[in-house]
Amino acid sequence: MNVFKDAGHLFRLAAVFVAGLLIFLVIRGFLVPKSFGQLGHYRANAVAEIAARPIKFAGHESCEGCHADVLDKKKNGKHAGVNCEACHGPQAQHADDPTAVKPDKLDTAVLCARCHEANAAKPRNFPQVDTAEHSRGLPCDTCHHPHSPVIVAGGAK
Ligand code: HEC
Ligand code: HEC
Ligand code: HEC
Ligand code: HEC
Repeated sequence: MNVFKDAGHLFRLAAVFVAGLLIFLVIRGFLVPKSFGQLGHYRANAVAEIAARPIKFAGHESCEGCHADVLDKKKNGKHAGVNCEACHGPQAQHADDPTAVKPDKLDTAVLCARCHEANAAKPRNFPQVDTAEHSRGLPCDTCHHPHSPVIVAGGAK
């Protein structure tokens, strides 16, 4: 077999490739999680791990069951479509045990500005104000009731 007479360098090169492939497979074996591929191109155990995380949001139906007075005030006002926890934050722990865990008091200067601070990037028909100039330093809920914010003659409604 003269063909392979001077082919030593080719075998050495092939050996380098084979060694490289083996090292790759060994490292891959260590790095790829066991459940990868069971359900598709991702780590199947991630589903169970995410499901096991503690629940933080209770959902507005839960709040409305105990705070029917707030729902009554809110449901016909301009904030009807804004969920309780969009303002009060995640309250699953409070909903589970209302007397042990109380929601923090909200600072309207921060809360209301988060949605209503005037900004050219917001849709033009979304109600927005220059909060510093508009509120003249007063908390927003001096004039607006947070659960039904439109002001009618004689005070907040
Ligand atoms: C099982 C009944 C129950 C559920 C469900 C519930 N609450 Fe309450 N909540 C209460 C009670 C009772 C109080 C009064 C606690 C106190 O003053 O000791 C309260 C108080 C509050 C307060 C006022 C705290 C303060 O400073 O006085 C807020 C705000 C509040 N709840 C928001 C929520 C939100 C938002 C939800 C839904 C995620 C919710 N609650 C779900 C029973 C409930
Ligand atoms: C637009 C923001 C916003 C939304 C939406 C909202 N709240 Fe409030 N809520 C406030 C603010 C601001 C206060 C007054 C400051 C405080 O108590 O933290 C307040 C006060 C409260 C209080 C205590 C005083 C009171 O008025 O009874 C309760 C209870 C409450 N909210 C429950 C709820 C529930 C239940 C929902 C959903 C049905 C809800 N809130 C939706 C902003 C909001
Ligand atoms: C999570 C976002 C959010 C927060 C926080 C929020 N709002 Fe609103 N607000 C809305 C949305 C959405 C509307 C309804 C807009 C519409 O009808 O197009 C609205 C409507 C209003 C309106 C009625 C404007 C009009 O003339 O139609 C007023 C006033 C208002 N909010 C004041 C407040 C005040 C005061 C606070 C703080 C207590 C607050 N908002 C917090 C989202 C928010
Ligand atoms: C001194 C009373 C007062 C205070 C404090 C106040 N507002 Fe108002 N606000 C008004 C009045 C009056 C109107 C016009 C009537 C209405 O639309 O409800 C208004 C209107 C609005 C509107 C509707 C604007 C529009 O283009 O339709 C928004 C949003 C608003 N206020 C948000 C806030 C926020 C956020 C704060 C706190 C930073 C605040 N307001 C503090 C009195 C007040």
